[in-house]
Amino acid sequence: MVSATASGARAAARCIELSRAPYSDRPDRLFRGWLTPAYRATIERVGAWMEDAGMTVRRDAAINLIGRYEGATPAAPALVIGSHLDSVRDGGAYDGPLGVMLGIECVAALHAEGRRLPFAIEVIGFGDEEGSRFPAAMLGSRAVAGTLAPQAADMADAEGVSVDAALRDFGSDAASLASAARMPGTMLAYLEAHIEQGPVLEAEGLALGTVTGIAAQLRLEATVTGVAGHAGTVTMPLRRDALAAAARMVAAVEDIAVAAASDLVATVGRIEVAPGAANVIAGDVRFTVDIRAGATDRRDRAAAAIRAAMDGIAAERGVVLDVATIHDLPPCPCDPRLMDLLDAAIVATGQPSRRLMSGAGHDAMAMVALGPVAMLFVRCAGGISHHPAEHVDPADADAAFAAMCGFIDRLGEQVRDA
Ligand code: GLV
Ligand code: MN
Ligand code: MN
Repeated sequence: MVSATASGARAAARCIELSRAPYSDRPDRLFRGWLTPAYRATIERVGAWMEDAGMTVRRDAAINLIGRYEGATPAAPALVIGSHLDSVRDGGAYDGPLGVMLGIECVAALHAEGRRLPFAIEVIGFGDEEGSRFPAAMLGSRAVAGTLAPQAADMADAEGVSVDAALRDFGSDAASLASAARMPGTMLAYLEAHIEQGPVLEAEGLALGTVTGIAAQLRLEATVTGVAGHAGTVTMPLRRDALAAAARMVAAVEDIAVAAASDLVATVGRIEVAPGAANVIAGDVRFTVDIRAGATDRRDRAAAAIRAAMDGIAAERGVVLDVATIHDLPPCPCDPRLMDLLDAAIVATGQPSRRLMSGAGHDAMAMVALGPVAMLFVRCAGGISHHPAEHVDPADADAAFAAMCGFIDRLGEQVRDA
């Protein structure tokens, strides 16, 4: 049995270290996009920590960082422990890296005791989960899962840098992306530890929870084209104001989600207005719509209602509306057998088990294509995430480490007994 130490606290401290330059692309806040200079510094640093923990380290064609700790039998299928190393803009320190740092600590503890399990452990730091650089998300884990469409390589970031050019900077290229796909049968199970990013655990005085599944996601990009004009001379009845139309669309998105009175949530999180001057009527507006629910049919019914409302507003206001789907993921159920193991491991840390659903997206949604997945949620202060105030108590990170070690031990026993 691996003993609980201050390993979790070290994992949390490493997340804080990674939240500052040179591991952030901004001097004052955290932003670490996939394949940026901060990302390069981060995979170098995290790769060194993986080596110290006894792992063999490599980068795949998507520049995901992968550390492997062999099992008792060489080339045995692996328990993959993963999460992401990229961040949102002005993000918090723990969303993503905590799961990677805790995975490294689990391996470090095994290595220190010279223990080998009946499976290998691979810790993966995925390069892109947030979609904060290119207009699609989970590029890293989808590349590993083998579910990344070849068109992903055609995308460009806001500066016009293509995925291919960004990969070339790291010695890879878009044509090689398919080679990041993991061979079927090489993953025994996937475990992801992540901050809850919500207030439930804190409200109940619990450090840890077992995730039952992850909500279905749909992300749209809407383009509204009106007619730009002089803000002082075009009379109100003669305007085709793209921003005024978009504002009504944004309100409709919220109204439809509120009226659903369920787990459905819908968000317009980004809007761009052109030409964007105080004295010019907006001619073009682009905005995102993110729609999530525990079940695909609930999500899709809301998406259809939102599309219909937006079409109606466009027709009424004489603007042209174009809507593209940029991200569509079904809900991801966690594996019942792995959930039981995680519950038992949590109870062994001294708190009752607690199961909860994830409204946030995670790399597990992609990795489920390769095998059974489990997720451990860790309490975060005030439920705050995607914000610099994100905080995890080091004692909770220690509890998470203990639960992960307990999960690994129990999985080892199951595999040995099988
Ligand atoms: C990732 O953080 C997401 O849920 O969008
Ligand atoms: Mn996030
Ligand atoms: Mn995350």
